Amino acid sequence: MTVPPTMRAVLLTRHGELDALVLDSAWPTPQPGPGEVVIRVDACAINNTDINTRVGWYAQGDDNGAWGEPLKFPIIQGADVCGVVAQVGEGVPHERVGERVITDPWVRDPVAPDDLDRAGYIGSEINGGYADFMVVPAINAHGVSTRLSAVQLASFATSAGTALDMLRRGKVGSGDRVLITGASGGVGLYAVQLTKAFGAEPVAVCDPTKASLVREFGAVETIDRAADPTELGPFDVVADVVGGPQWPLLLRALRRGGRYVVSGAIGGPLVELDLRTLYLQDLVLIGATITQPAVFAELVKLIESGAIKPAVAATFPLEQIHDAQRRFVEKNFVGKIVLDLAGS
Ligand SMILES: NC(=O)c1ccc[n+]([C@@H]2O[C@H](COP(=O)([O-])OP(=O)(O)OC[C@H]3O[C@@H](n4cnc5c(N)ncnc54)[C@H](OP(=O)(O)O)[C@@H]3O)[C@@H](O)[C@H]2O)c1
Repeated sequence: MTVPPTMRAVLLTRHGELDALVLDSAWPTPQPGPGEVVIRVDACAINNTDINTRVGWYAQGDDNGAWGEPLKFPIIQGADVCGVVAQVGEGVPHERVGERVITDPWVRDPVAPDDLDRAGYIGSEINGGYADFMVVPAINAHGVSTRLSAVQLASFATSAGTALDMLRRGKVGSGDRVLITGASGGVGLYAVQLTKAFGAEPVAVCDPTKASLVREFGAVETIDRAADPTELGPFDVVADVVGGPQWPLLLRALRRGGRYVVSGAIGGPLVELDLRTLYLQDLVLIGATITQPAVFAELVKLIESGAIKPAVAATFPLEQIHDAQRRFVEKNFVGKIVLDLAGS
């Protein structure tokens, strides 16, 4: 495969609004270091992390704006890539050239992969896939064998990986009744499918206009996000990515000893906790962000077996990154928005 010296890349030039994202049509194509591969990006999904990082939402009381170390601008965002290995660095078998891969978004320290403090996210700590080519550690490029398209395959990584991690941390098992918030979105829709695949009962919190589609993906019941979820409880597990004003009701919807797992707070990060609900009901609260390495390998198997189906709402060419992100934040769709680089 020929790798040109320059490529198209969308650069995040600073924290800010959409104009902080600038398309460069002659950005230097990255070279692989030892243990790394160059991937030709065929498709790349959009995530809330891209928006949150751009606007500096992760800052918690300081002026850093990033979720970890301050970002080094310009950076290329985009963690969820499907593409083909175009080049390999020293120490990576040459046979990997031509391999179809998807990317595990979490870059771990090779010496201490379980040390969460040493993990970084593609598109934040290293450059990502809003570009024709990207470089990642070879272990982050997972070979995948399926007839799904590149756009479909790009829809899984962050959303389905997070959903799987949440269900594993929440020990969701056969027969469990699981309440899933944000169920029409990326994480939520894959959480619905995975809950069903594990023999448990997914109950989905979503906008009524999206409910029939969410049921098609496996939800046994749906409830409007303004309604009281305790009416459909008690639940063994709540998998939450929304938080916000309804949060106290999510805890109250759990059975005694139930598990609450959280990976996001799109409805608002500051919530009111009545400690009596927590301790008198023997509840377990679990935060989930960085997935264990084994989770992504399990996800690839679930994709290959067809246990979960891709959920792509719309595609955009790379050049229309502003339109794509505008559509993404409107939230008037079900599933994922994906940049189609092969087709653009
Ligand atoms: N920790 C991690 O590693 C990780 C990974 C992925 C995502 N996240 C976080 O998890 C959250 C959800 O991510 P996602 O990718 O699944 O999101 P998404 O695709 O944008 O979907 C979020 C859904 O939440 C619902 N929602 C409820 N209240 C909302 C509000 N106030 N504003 C907007 N939407 C609201 C919407 O569904 P209805 O219209 O149907 O109510 C929307 O479809 C985000 O905060 C994201 O940053 C964290």
